[in-house]
This record gives sequence, C-alpha cells and structure tokens, in this order.
Amino acid sequence: MLRSPSKIHSFVVHSLGLACLALSVRAVAAPSFEQRSTTGSTHPRVLILGGGVAGVIAARTLHKNGIDNFLIVEARDELGGRMQTLDFGGTVIEQGPNWIQGTQDGNGPANPIFVLAKKHNLTSQFNDWFGSVTTYDKTGAVDWLDVFETSGDQFEDLTAVAGTRVDLNLVDLSARSGYSLAKAKPKTAHASAAEYYQFDWEYAQTPEESSLIASSWGNNFTYDTDQGGFSDDNLMSIDQHGFKTIIQREAAEFLKPTQTKLNATVKTISYSKSGVTVTLESGEKISGDYGLCTFSLGVLQNDDVQFKPELPDFKQEAIQSMVMATYTKIFLKFPSKFWFDTEMAIFADSERGRYPVWQSLDHSNFFPGSGILFVTVTGDYSVRIESLPDSQVQEEVMGVVRSMFPNITVPEPTEFFFPRWHTNPLFRGSYSNWPPSFTSQHLDNLRANVGRLFFAGEATSRKYFGFLHGAYFEGLDIATSIVQCIKMGNKCPDLEHFAQINNVLPYENN
Ligand SMILES: Cc1cc2nc3c(=O)[nH]c(=O)nc-3n(C[C@H](O)[C@H](O)[C@H](O)COP(=O)(O)OP(=O)(O)OC[C@H]3O[C@@H](n4cnc5c(N)ncnc54)[C@H](O)[C@@H]3O)c2cc1C
Ligand SMILES: *[C@@H]1O[C@H](CO)[C@@H](O)[C@H](O)[C@H]1NC(C)=O
Ligand SMILES: *[C@@H]1O[C@H](CO)[C@@H](O)[C@H](O)[C@H]1NC(C)=O
Ligand SMILES: *[C@@H]1O[C@H](CO)[C@@H](O)[C@H](O)[C@H]1NC(C)=O
Ligand SMILES: *[C@@H]1O[C@H](CO)[C@@H](O)[C@H](O)[C@H]1NC(C)=O
Repeated sequence: MLRSPSKIHSFVVHSLGLACLALSVRAVAAPSFEQRSTTGSTHPRVLILGGGVAGVIAARTLHKNGIDNFLIVEARDELGGRMQTLDFGGTVIEQGPNWIQGTQDGNGPANPIFVLAKKHNLTSQFNDWFGSVTTYDKTGAVDWLDVFETSGDQFEDLTAVAGTRVDLNLVDLSARSGYSLAKAKPKTAHASAAEYYQFDWEYAQTPEESSLIASSWGNNFTYDTDQGGFSDDNLMSIDQHGFKTIIQREAAEFLKPTQTKLNATVKTISYSKSGVTVTLESGEKISGDYGLCTFSLGVLQNDDVQFKPELPDFKQEAIQSMVMATYTKIFLKFPSKFWFDTEMAIFADSERGRYPVWQSLDHSNFFPGSGILFVTVTGDYSVRIESLPDSQVQEEVMGVVRSMFPNITVPEPTEFFFPRWHTNPLFRGSYSNWPPSFTSQHLDNLRANVGRLFFAGEATSRKYFGFLHGAYFEGLDIATSIVQCIKMGNKCPDLEHFAQINNVLPYENN
C-alpha cells in the first residue's frame, strides 16, 4: 500500500531547554523581520529558498496559517521557477511545463494546478495526444497507426504488471523488464517510436532507466480515476501571459514586496537544530529559524549549493539516487505551414529517441498562422544536443523534417530555439524520474528535514514526482509540517527517515 504523501510521519521532538524563553521575549520586541536566528521565537522567521511552484505554495500555506515572517529567496528576477516563457517571433511559447496533466473528472479530486488555472482564467486547450496523430518514418508519411494503438495497450499492460507486483509485495524492476514480462518487445523502428511516445515522452528517460512500479504509479495517480487520479485529460496552456501567470497571480494575492528577495543566488546553506543561515553570491548572509529548500534535485546533486555541515549520508544517498532527467522542446518557425494537419506526429528513426515527437502549434486549436512546429527529445538525447552548437542541431532537425516531407521543398526556419535545462545551474535538468534502484525509503529520505532545514519540490513527491502538481502538494505538505512545528512551540518534528536502507536479502558473493 502506498502511504499518503500528506501524512506526517512519526515525530521526534528535540528538547530546547531554556534558550527559547529568553529569545521569544526579544522576538516580541521586534515583531517584524528578525535578522537573526531566534530559536523559540513566537514569530519565527522562515526562509523559503526558491520561488517556483513549491516555494510560492509553501509561502501561501504559511500566510494562511498566520505566519507572515517569511522571505522567499530566488535567484531569477521573477517567480515561477521552471514555468518560463519566451517570445518566439511574436508568439509566447513555453520553455518548461506546458500541460496541466490530469484535470478533474466530475466532482472527483481536482489537480490543484487545474484549480489555479480556472481561478486565474488561464487560456488553455485540450491537446489530443492519442487521437490526432500522423505517423512518419524515413520514407515520409507512412500509416503505422495500428502499431501506435498497440503501444497504448502495451503501456496499460505494463501498469498492470506493476500493480500485480505491488499487490504481491515483489521487488521493483525496470520498466523494460515490465514491458518484456508483459510480452511487449518492440522489434521495429515503428514499434520503438510508438513505445517512446507512450513512455519516454512522459518520464524523459527510457524504460531501462525507469522504475516499473513508480512509473506506473506516476501514470495512475495522475490520470487513472480508478486509482485516485484526476482525469485522463490534459490542458495545454496557450495563454500569451505565459503558463507562469497562474502562480504569479496567486502570489500577488498575498505576497508583500518585503517577503520576496529576487536576483539572489544562494551559495551556501548552514543549518542546525536551531536555525538556518544562507550566504548569497553577493556575500550577504540571511538567517531564519527555519529553512525550506525547494531547489531542484539537479541543483542539490551538482553541488551548486554547499551545505554546512555536509548533508548526512542518508540524505546524500537519496539525493544522488533519484534521477534528474531532461526534456527538451526544440522550436522552429517557418514562413508558413507545410506539415501535417493533426496536432501531433511521430517520426520513427532507426535510432530510438532521435527527434521522435512533433507537435504543430500552427493548428486551429493553438496558434493558427504562427508557422511554429516543435519537436521534443529527452534523456541522453537532450544532454547530447545541449553540448552542440545550435546550428548543428538545426541541421540535424532539418534533415529529419526533409525526410518526413520528401516531396516538399522545405525552407530554412526563420527562428530556431531550444532551452538548455541540463546545463542551467539553477535547474540541471527538467524534472525528476524514479530509477529502479530507488526505494520507497529513499523517497522518505529525500523529503526528510535535517535539523531546521526542510526540503520540498516536485522530486520529493511520492505520487506526483516530475509534475507541477507534485511541486504544489509538496510545498503545501512540507510547509504544513513547519506550521505544526511552530505551533508546537518550535519543538521541531523530524519527518521520518531511514538511517540505512538494506537489501531485501543480502547478495551472496559465493
Ligand atoms: C521542459 C519541461 C517540461 C515540463 N512539462 C511539464 C508539464 O507539461 N506538466 C507538468 O505538470 N510539469 C511539467 N514539468 C515539470 C514542472 O515544471 C516542475 O515539476 C515544477 O515546475 C517544479 O517546481 P518546483 O517548485 O519544485 O521547482 P523549481 O520550479 O525549479 O523552483 C525552484 C526555484 O529555485 C531557484 N533556485 C535554484 N537554485 C537557486 C540558488 N542557488 N539560489 C536561489 N534560487 C535558486 C530556481 O530559479 C527556481 O525558481 C516540466 C518541466 C520542464 C523543465
Ligand atoms: C533583477 O535584475 C534584473 C536584471 O538585472 C533587473 O531588471 C531587476 O530590476 C532586478 N529586480 C530586483 C527586484 O532586484
Ligand atoms: C476571470 O474571469 C471571470 C469571469 O469572466 C472574472 O469574474 C474574473 O475577475 C477573472 N479573474 C481574473 C483573475 O482575471
Ligand atoms: C512523393 O512523390 C512520389 C512521386 O510522385 C510519390 O510516389 C510518393 O508517394 C510521394 N511521397 C509522399 C510521402 O507523398
Ligand atoms: C494502475 O492502474 C491499472 C488500471 O486501473 C491497474 O491495473 C494497475 O494495477 C495499476 N498499477 C499500479 C502500479 O498501481
């Protein structure tokens, strides 16, 4: 059975001694922003590190609970985190998240991102991923939709294999093993491209690299209403204020200017059982009674921020064992549309994962007349193209376009762009993916606090890792833990963690 991510695990209460009494008096004397750590303060200061979805929702949670002595510290010059837009030749496009994945079925559970989108009037459109698809290969447009349909059934079989293993408490495997056990063994370029569309296009990694159980959960808890999911629908933001507008408008409802520090890059985080101090790139130091680190898993993995003291072994093992994957949308703008009339297209290259998923934005549902087409690559392909000059990637992509449309004289694009998420030091990837060697206890350890320093973000979500709604729920849940901690008189509870994670049975070496 899956444990609810909102459940707060067994509390370990630190005794605080006399210090809290003396310090709370000082906090009353200076009720606004405390400049120093004040263990036991009645108005403790909370530093929220990162102003993405998790950070903004954490701030809102504190505010709703009457705790307004907090500060969001963010490196960029706006809130929203990975929700980033670009004016691409006159059309605002999304470099990061684009879809509300799983909306709501009747009065069932709603995706909170869908709720925010409705509240802030986001302009969005249903995107028909499975019903509006044209298939291609190296010879041009070739109808292999039957293979595509089969791959959809095979993905369902995969989640059933995973479900059986959960019921029987069997060890996790890779999704590749799961596919093979479900007798899905793609042997052609068409079958591989179809599988890619079902799997890698969502998880940003291959079935070999992904957990069978966690990938199936990732699908079920978001899309399958029989399994607690929101709905099997999606909505694509086409709002010209950008998808980020929903989180920025939400923030504008409660945030005061003094509660946000933008353009502030954190270099070190010192933490203890009594408080947290961060040092910025500028040399400035900021202290709080609590810290909530929402930096991406990629940032934590790559030592972009130094922790003092070093994080404990259990925490480092968890951080280095979840994967920060990369998902890259490559945008092209042409003088006019010459391509498919469906919303989506799949290109089957002999090399799996080579420029496979295409989407037309010059479509009546999206931006008709825009001349924009984009293609998505993931995983190792993303890492590979990020190391190449744009001109070389453009040449490769145009080679594929020309093989998809052999009878058309395809012009060069007037605009070409792709974001480099993997090398961006504020992200180091696009979102997390759960590998087969990552256990349920590792996830607890990833979201566990160390002293007064807490962690939240899409990667700490057991049910919704990778998604915007994962970041939302984690911001909410972990901030709720901090609120409880404060309301218990700053007797800081530890979220459950496992000091050591053992094998199911020891491996034998003889
Ligand atoms: C290309 C792409 C496509 C995606 N598609 C979808 C989708 O369609 N649907 C969906 O649901 N999800 C999607 N996601 C995932 C979604 O964007 C994330 O799950 C979510 O935005 C994560 O929010 P967060 O608050 O956990 O982290 P972040 O948004 O990363 O917030 C952390 C913040 O910390 C800041 N920061 C980092 N380092 C420092 C530092 N040293 N000092 C100060 N500040 C720092 C960052 O600038 C950032 O603002 C996509 C992501 C990408 C990149
Ligand atoms: C952040 O930096 C940008 C670019 O340097 C600048 O335009 C903006 O005013 C700054 N914002 C804040 C709040 O300091
Ligand atoms: C959204 O639209 C509704 C109805 O059209 C309107 O009442 C509301 O003020 C709008 N909200 C925002 C944030 O624009
Ligand atoms: C391209 O043109 C040739 C010759 O007219 C035709 O046989 C072929 O089917 C066309 N290919 C496509 C993909 O339209
Ligand atoms: C996912 O949902 C499917 C269909 O409802 C179910 O058969 C399967 O057991 C579920 N898998 C997991 C891992 O929960």
